[in-house]
Amino acid sequence: MDESLKLINYDMERASQRTFPGRRVVFGDGNPYSRLMLIGEAPGGDEEKEGRPFVGRAGRNLMEFLAQIELERKDVYLTNAVKIRPFRLSPKTGKPVNRPPDRSEIDFFAQFLYKEIEAVKPDMIVTLGNVPLQTVLRNRRAQIGDSHGRIICFGENRIFPLYHPAAIIYNRALEKTYSDDIKALKEALESGGIR
Ligand code: URA
Repeated sequence: MDESLKLINYDMERASQRTFPGRRVVFGDGNPYSRLMLIGEAPGGDEEKEGRPFVGRAGRNLMEFLAQIELERKDVYLTNAVKIRPFRLSPKTGKPVNRPPDRSEIDFFAQFLYKEIEAVKPDMIVTLGNVPLQTVLRNRRAQIGDSHGRIICFGENRIFPLYHPAAIIYNRALEKTYSDDIKALKEALESGGIR
């Protein structure tokens, strides 16, 4: 792995163990030299178990969409805005269930995400859902519904917001929108000479 990413991960692991003791940190994965960086929300149970982002159901959806534009996991760099699994204990089963990340988790990991972006220096950042969109734009009011499917220039970064792939699991009506957005992403990558 790239040396600067190794250092960032090392610092993040140490800081996370102080703030969230005992929680597994799920680092970025895939090709750190890719020109395309995908940023999700936070790991779920499968990701926490395997220690890799996007290996569960949302990840399978994402890989299917990427396949539509002839991209595979090994072609992109994949990471999350929050690197630990946000969970609560189910009152019924007493087992952990996923929940959305809270403000303290998002703010804690944002500092490392910004460093990660600087280290990877992607030509395009694809944010998946509201949490990474708001984090990367440093704007808590940014909404995926208003900005999906087109490029946003922010500082040195070009950002292409997509809905979170899990949104399609819960809202089938989004499937067509997602496919259209993926086609628009393909065009943006091709016209930018990124692939
Ligand atoms: N898995 C991840 O790694 N990130 C998400 O945002 C969702 C599932």
